Amino acid sequence: CGIVGYVGPRDSQAVLLSGLARLEYRGYDSAGIAVIDGAGELGMRKRAGKLQVLRDDLAASPLADGTTGIGHTRWATHGGPTDANAHPHLADDDKLAVIHNGIIENFAELKDELAADGFTFRSETDTEVAAVLLGREYAASGDLITAFRAVVKRLEGAFTLLAMHRDQPGLVVGARRNSPLVIGLGEGENFLGSDVAAFVEHTRNALAIGQDEIVAITPAGVEVTDFDGAPVETSPFEVVWDASAAEKGGWSSFMAKEVSEEPEAVANTLRGRLHEGAVTIPELDGLDDLFAGINRIIVIACGTAAYAGMVGKYALEQWTRVPVDVELAHEFRYRDPVIGPDTLVVSISQSGETMDTLMAVKFARERGAKTLSICNTQGATIPRESDAIVYTHAGPEVAVASTKAFVAQITALYLLALHVGRVRGALSDAASVEAVRELEAVPAKIVRVLEKEQAHIEQFARWMGDTQSVLFLGRHVGYPIALEGALKLKEISYIHAEGFAAGELKHGPIALVEPGQAVFVIVPSPRHSAELHKKVVSNIQEIRARGARVIAVAEEGDAAVLPFADEVLRIPLAGALFEPLLAVVPLHIFAMGLATAKGLDVDQPRNLAKSVTVE
Ligand code: G6P
Repeated sequence: CGIVGYVGPRDSQAVLLSGLARLEYRGYDSAGIAVIDGAGELGMRKRAGKLQVLRDDLAASPLADGTTGIGHTRWATHGGPTDANAHPHLADDDKLAVIHNGIIENFAELKDELAADGFTFRSETDTEVAAVLLGREYAASGDLITAFRAVVKRLEGAFTLLAMHRDQPGLVVGARRNSPLVIGLGEGENFLGSDVAAFVEHTRNALAIGQDEIVAITPAGVEVTDFDGAPVETSPFEVVWDASAAEKGGWSSFMAKEVSEEPEAVANTLRGRLHEGAVTIPELDGLDDLFAGINRIIVIACGTAAYAGMVGKYALEQWTRVPVDVELAHEFRYRDPVIGPDTLVVSISQSGETMDTLMAVKFARERGAKTLSICNTQGATIPRESDAIVYTHAGPEVAVASTKAFVAQITALYLLALHVGRVRGALSDAASVEAVRELEAVPAKIVRVLEKEQAHIEQFARWMGDTQSVLFLGRHVGYPIALEGALKLKEISYIHAEGFAAGELKHGPIALVEPGQAVFVIVPSPRHSAELHKKVVSNIQEIRARGARVIAVAEEGDAAVLPFADEVLRIPLAGALFEPLLAVVPLHIFAMGLATAKGLDVDQPRNLAKSVTVE
């Protein structure tokens, strides 16, 4: 869910709605705002559906202007996406409004307690229980901050909670536990948001707040305390991108814009980290100990980030000679892994807020492992919970399906592998120089793929508009790329898609191949391994013999695939480990092209949210 809060001289409705528009990627089942108006009344409007439904409703019958407000865009957990279940939730005779992101695990027990006290409920949500509880506490103390402290101490689970009360205009209170909340500092106005996108058009000065902390904002200032009211230190930071970076500009979708930014995402992630053929990551200065004593690396992530991790495994093992496992964060956490101080757990997360990944990082720390976070979002929770951070610099990613963050994550993993390899003495100077040369060449090569292939891919994606199923095959580093190609297609075009290791084909998946079945094959360069290349070409022949429609992604000049492929998408020549950074680009374009051909919203696919902050 996306959360925004505002106090200051402006009309808060406009501030809330533009903040919600920038947070809509976090959930778009329903949206709502509450505002304390000039007459001291609390107005509230909420609607199921995308933000536009709420906007239209407000345009038809506006709320009175006010300068204190909270807003919410929802990804449903408790209770379906209806008007009643949308946030804000009101209590205390509609004088109090609450919004929430997360899950309150003990809500049933609290609800029983309140019901026994005679309170009634209008929704099925856990949030309303928190609102009603806050109403009861407010009646007891007459002070919002005091009441709020009492409430958050009773809540179990994960939450970001914001509240305001009609009788205390000019005050918004917020709390966070395992769920994101950042503060935006303005002049005579202040903001709260799930992330900086909520307020970046007004201020780039931000404050990150920690776990189990409460913030109170007024136009004059910001106060951060723990749940008991004791002041705590906060960490100020400046947002490095400006509001236009999170705007669509002239593009048809955020996804189209973000795919076009893949070259920059790689270039910006490399910037300042390559010096004369070697990698130095300034953020890791003084942290050599973190890498010296380890004998194992476990990479944890979810979704696309996990596929970046699978690509990274090949480079980490090659350059560091430390064994690497890659595991889905939610699977890792719920078994009994053999880890300890000699394990480095590397988490990868674009948002830095994915609850499954966060919980796995905490679990790893509790077990004594060392933790390093690869993350694209400043001030996010996962990097704050880790011993070390390597930021990707892909810029804000808004489309739900991750694209430019994926190539930036692979780039960051390669930098990390080269750094750790050097620190451990496992990497030769020659290998380092060669890898750096390859990395530096990647952005221009992605530009070339976009220039030469985008129009062609979009055209055949249109022809394939009624395709029901697409398979993706790859070997070695091409295998995770096959998985990523399939995931992207599932996410935004809603058709059946599956990725396989090409070698596994004959052990099962080939049974799926019937005449007309579309199959993408990622073909490794014959220059790196003639044997592997030959195997993949044989795989193509095997599926072709069974009538498959083959789309090969192959390097420029590889003629061996021509007789067997219906389409050939070309990528420039690159070192074996660097091919995935190029081969994935046509797959991103294809998924986008097919979804567009089907008339779907590529930025906001059904049932998904960009940042899943519940487990
Ligand atoms: C969600 C998104 C995916 C994303 C995954 C991990 O499931 O829909 O596109 O890959 O989360 O997100 P993260 O922010 O942790 O990289």
